Amino acid sequence: MSRQRWAAASNSTSQKATSPAAAATASYPKARNKLPGLAVPKNTTPTTKPPLTFPGQLAQSTVRGYATQKQATAYIHEKKPFDVERVRHDFPILKRVINGKPLAYLDSAATTQKPRDVIDELTRFYNEYNANVHRGVYKISEEATAAYEEARAKIARLINANSPNEIIFVRGTTEAINLVAQSWGRTNVGLGDGIILTEMEHHSNIVPWQLLAKERGAHLKYVGITDDGHLVHEDFRQHLESGSIKLVTMTHVSNVLGTINPVREYIREAHKQGCPVLVDAAQSVPHMPVDVQDLDCDFLAFSGHKMCGPTGIGILYAKKSILQAMPPYHGGGEMIREVHLYESAWKDPPYKFEAGTTNIAGAIGLGKAVDYVSGLGLRNIQEHEQELTEYAHDRLGKVKGIRIYGPENPRTKSGVISFNMGDVHAHDMATLLDEDGIAVRSGHHCAQPLMERLGVSSTTRASVYVYNTEDEIDRLTQSLERAGRIFKL
Ligand code: ALA
Repeated sequence: MSRQRWAAASNSTSQKATSPAAAATASYPKARNKLPGLAVPKNTTPTTKPPLTFPGQLAQSTVRGYATQKQATAYIHEKKPFDVERVRHDFPILKRVINGKPLAYLDSAATTQKPRDVIDELTRFYNEYNANVHRGVYKISEEATAAYEEARAKIARLINANSPNEIIFVRGTTEAINLVAQSWGRTNVGLGDGIILTEMEHHSNIVPWQLLAKERGAHLKYVGITDDGHLVHEDFRQHLESGSIKLVTMTHVSNVLGTINPVREYIREAHKQGCPVLVDAAQSVPHMPVDVQDLDCDFLAFSGHKMCGPTGIGILYAKKSILQAMPPYHGGGEMIREVHLYESAWKDPPYKFEAGTTNIAGAIGLGKAVDYVSGLGLRNIQEHEQELTEYAHDRLGKVKGIRIYGPENPRTKSGVISFNMGDVHAHDMATLLDEDGIAVRSGHHCAQPLMERLGVSSTTRASVYVYNTEDEIDRLTQSLERAGRIFKL
């Protein structure tokens, strides 16, 4: 194709492209013409409602009683019966026997198990329609493109984004935050500017900001936490009022304490000072209704593998106007409109941020995972976990020598329970639990500043998801009692 034709194609696209797929195939008038006929291969099309139409407001109703969201989109989160035994049948791995005992998987904050639907869709993609997306005008490439873009639309609907164009596929939460730090941060943060974080952040929401602050001569300001694991609101207010704050970045739910932070209120306060907010939603989007328009967050990051999806795929959500103003993060194929020897022009978001061949299978698998969790209902998932967490606090709280970290009231937290027993090292504890077929995480959980605040080097952490049962909490309790006897606590 001559240079003139490339330019003509991209010019006309910038005026006419109205769908993400159309924008993506901007340089191929032939492919663009074919797009209306694109179809996801059979069995991939979800049966969930409503249909994938954007823009336009989805029907909304008010979901009351959530600490973090006064309103949340209800249509995919409606109350339905939750049958945990039926849910368990969807997860082949739960049939495993470890050390002669059924696997009790209590490490879903690290990664969740995968339902058969997701595993099957990955296999079907590779067996039946594996091809690169946005590049081919042949049948299976068109099918792959349609499934990939449909996954993007499902994710937009899950978090109530205004448009699928606000959804960027990345490797995970970590890459999403690095993208914001490197692209938005290097453009907007300068000498003497401040960034507000909290002491309960995961390393992935600390280190990218340290790198940026060092490079730009900016400084980091931390909101402290109380002894029972809540943010010190006064710290936040003081930092905000100190001026020159360019960004607030905070976790929605702590991966160690389970604390559900009142991000909605913090966002309101930050916006009053003209300050944008990034929400690390790695531990919230899989577990509760999250509505980005209601939160009014500017950026939101989460990972697919913590919500029944494959590893290596995650999401950065950002408001359209912000994405449009941000420079690219990676350069390469498919993110460009045209390339000349000494200059190039970019596609519109989200494609501007998806250079190279992305994790196509991962995105399609994540779309299937969204079908799965939406099918269960995010409100149901939250309620199921809430009941299990209350049960776990009650049972574990009676174990001799145990100290549980974070909020004492289980109704103000998610299904993450970190603890220590006496001076037993967390790794020893996790090894003993493994003897009983119980999988938990031990260590600093990628939150060393929080460990310092708690005055420990590590904790043992049990975390629950859709497939966990009270029986597994009973087994954990008994196993901890056995450990107490072994360590003579
Ligand atoms: N961030 C994950 C966790 O907290 C890996 O375990």
